[in-house]
Amino acid sequence: MSTTAAPAAPVETYHGASLEIRDLTLAFGDIEVLRNVSLSVPAGTTTCIIGPSGSGKSTLLRGINRLHEPKSGDVLLGGQSVLGVKPDGLRRRIGMVFQHFNLFPDHTALENVALAPTNVKRMPRAQARTLAHKHLAEVGLAERADHRPRDLSGGQQQRVAIARALAMEPEVMLFDEATSALDPELVKGVLDLMAGLSHSGMTMVVVTHEMHFARKVADQVVFMDEGKVVEAGTPQQIFDNPGSDRLRRFLSEVL
Ligand SMILES: Nc1ncnc2c1ncn2[C@@H]1O[C@H](COP(=O)(O)OP(=O)(O)O)[C@@H](O)[C@H]1O
Ligand SMILES: [Mg+2]
Repeated sequence: MSTTAAPAAPVETYHGASLEIRDLTLAFGDIEVLRNVSLSVPAGTTTCIIGPSGSGKSTLLRGINRLHEPKSGDVLLGGQSVLGVKPDGLRRRIGMVFQHFNLFPDHTALENVALAPTNVKRMPRAQARTLAHKHLAEVGLAERADHRPRDLSGGQQQRVAIARALAMEPEVMLFDEATSALDPELVKGVLDLMAGLSHSGMTMVVVTHEMHFARKVADQVVFMDEGKVVEAGTPQQIFDNPGSDRLRRFLSEVL
C-alpha cells in the first residue's frame, strides 16, 4: 500500500490575500526575539522561511495572526492592518498548521473538519459536513472521513489538520514545521499536498527544514537568524548564491 499517495481530488482554486510585514518587533518580557522584520508576500505566492532553531521563525508566524501581540510594527492582510481586526476574526482569515496536529481524539476526521465552521462561523451542521467532505476529498482522505485520529497515520492526521484549516476558507495559510513530527515515509504525501495548495492560488508562509521543498515550491525564501531576516530572495539566489557567511554556514549544515 502506498502511504504517499497524492491527493485524490484536485486541489481547489484559491484566491489568497497579500501579506505585508512591516518592521515587526516581538518581545517576551524585555527580550526582543524578533527585531524589525519586514517581509512582502504577494497574493497567491509561497514564502518559505528557513533558519536555525531559536531564530524566531515560529514567533514570526505567531505574530502574523496575533497569537503573540507585536511590540511595534504592523502586519497588513490584503492591505488591512491586522491590529484593527479582532483576533477571532483573524484566526478565521489566517489558517495555521502546526507540527503537532491537535485534532480532537474523540471526533472523526469529518467532525474535526466540520467543527470550526459550525462553531466559529455558525454554519448549519449539514452544510459544514458537506464542506468537510469536500475538503477531506481535496486532501485525499475521502475514504477516511469516519476514522478517528488514532486510526489514521501521522501523515493522514496532518492532512486532516490541513483540511480543517481550509474549511475556514482562509486568505493565508501558515505552516510551522508541518512535517517535522512525521515518520520519514509520510513526509512526501504532506509536502505534495502543500505543493498543490501553493500552486492553487493560496498565499502561504511555510517554516520548514525541507530544503528541497523550499527550492522547488517557494517563490521567495527567507533566511532568519537571531530574530532578524538576514537574506530574502528567490530559491536560486538563496541556495545557489548565498550572500552572507551566516547563510553559507547554515546551508552547509543542512544540505
Ligand atoms: N513563550 C516564550 N517565552 C520566552 N521566550 C520564548 C518563548 N517562545 C520562544 N521564546 C524564545 O524566542 C526565541 C525564538 O523562538 P522561536 O520563534 O520558537 O524560534 P524558531 O521557531 O526559529 O526555532 C528563542 O530564543 C526562544 O527561546
Ligand atoms: Mg519553531
